[in-house]
Amino acid sequence: MKIANVVGARPQFIKAAAVCRALRARAGVTDLLVHTGQHYDAEMSDVFFDQLDLPKPQRYLGVGGGSHAGMTAAMLVALEGVVNEENPDLVVVYGDTNTTLAAALVAAKLQIPLGHVEAGLRSYNRSMPEEINRVVADHLSQALFCPTQTAVGNLHKEGVTAGVHMVGDVMNDILQLSLAHKNDAVLKEIGVEPGGYHLMTLHRAGNTDDTARLEAIVRAVGKLDRPVVFPVHPRTRKAMEAAGIKPEDRVHAIAPVGYFDFLALQSGARSILTDSGGVQKEAYMLGVPCVTLRAETEWPETVEAGWNILVDADAEEIIAGAERTPPPDRPGLYGDGHAAERIVELCEDLVR
Ligand code: UD1
Ligand code: UDP
Repeated sequence: MKIANVVGARPQFIKAAAVCRALRARAGVTDLLVHTGQHYDAEMSDVFFDQLDLPKPQRYLGVGGGSHAGMTAAMLVALEGVVNEENPDLVVVYGDTNTTLAAALVAAKLQIPLGHVEAGLRSYNRSMPEEINRVVADHLSQALFCPTQTAVGNLHKEGVTAGVHMVGDVMNDILQLSLAHKNDAVLKEIGVEPGGYHLMTLHRAGNTDDTARLEAIVRAVGKLDRPVVFPVHPRTRKAMEAAGIKPEDRVHAIAPVGYFDFLALQSGARSILTDSGGVQKEAYMLGVPCVTLRAETEWPETVEAGWNILVDADAEEIIAGAERTPPPDRPGLYGDGHAAERIVELCEDLVR
C-alpha cells in the first residue's frame, strides 16, 4: 500500500509528523511525502523536519508565495504530475491550506481515494480562505478523520456521513510525544521568566491585511501588564514592515521559532494571544489561558470550557482577557494521543 501525504505549511509538518510516525510502524506501507513548498523559509519548514523526525520529502514542488490562484494553480499542475508518476493507493491531506485544496482536487480528479486529517472544522465564515479549502476537501474525501465530536456534527449538518471517523487530534499525539524535548533555555535567551510574559502569534489574512486592525492589535499588546514574546510569521513581518508598524520595546518581536522552543514558550506564558488554530488547541492542552484575536473559532470547545475567549481586535478585551484567571477544570478534549494510529488503520481498511 502506497500512501501519498501532501504537506506544505508549518502546521501540516506537525500533523504529518504524527501520521508518518504511525505509518512507518506498519508493515507493507510505503509512505510518500510530498512538500508543495508553500512554506519555504528554514524556520517555517526545515526545523520541523529536523525536530519531529519527519523523513525528507521525496518530492519537493517549489511552489510558494503569490496569489491564491497562482499558488493553487501551480500546485495543481505539479501535483497532478507527481500523482500520475507515483500512482499512490491513497492521498492524505491535512488541515485547510491551499496545499490541502490543491491535493484534494488532484486526487479527486484522478480518482485516487482521499483522506482528510482534521476534517469537519468550520468557522462558518466564508471570507476566510481556509473555510473554502476545508469545505472542498471534506466534500471530496472518502475518509474524514475528525478531531472532535463538534467536527463530526458539522459534517453531518452538511449531509456528509459516509467515511466520517472521530479519531482524536494528531496535534495532541505529537505534543505528548514532544513535551520531554521542550527547550526551556529559550526563555533565558529571550530574557523572560516562566509566568512573567505573554506569548502572541498572528498571521491570519483578516488580521494582517487590514493595517488599522494589525496596528490596533500590536498597540494593545504593548499595554499588557507583562512583556510579550511575539515570534513573527513572515506574512505578518512583511505587513508590519510595509505599514511601518513598530511594536513597543517590551514586545519581543522575534523570528518564528522551532517546535521545541515554541512548546517551552507556550508552557511558560501567563497567557497566549493568537489567531492560529493549532495554537488555540495547544494552549488548552498545556493549561495556558488563550485569548483569540478573531471573532469566531473552529475550536469552540476551548471557549465552552472557559480556557479561551474571542476578543476580535478590541484593545480593552485583549487586555482583560490576557490577565484573567482560568477555571479550575480542564477536561480532556483532544483524544488519547493515539489519533494517528487510528488514522493509519482506517487508511489500510480503505484501500484493502
Ligand atoms: C497559510 C495558510 C493558513 C495557515 C498558515 C500557517 C492558506 C490560504 N493559508 O497562511 O491557513 O494557518 O499557512 O502558518 O493556505 N512567506 C514567507 N516564507 C515562508 C512562508 C510564507 O516569506 O516560508 C510569506 C510569503 O510572502 C507569502 C506569505 O508569507 O506570500 C503568505 O504565505 P501563504 O502560504 O500564502 O499563507 P500563510 O499566511 O502562511
Ligand atoms: N509554531 C511553532 N513556532 C512558532 C509558531 C508556531 O512551532 O513560532 C507551531 C505551533 O506549536 C503549532 C503550529 O506551529 O503546532 C501552528 O501553526 P500556525 O499557527 O502557523 O498555523 P494554524 O494552526 O493557524 O493553521
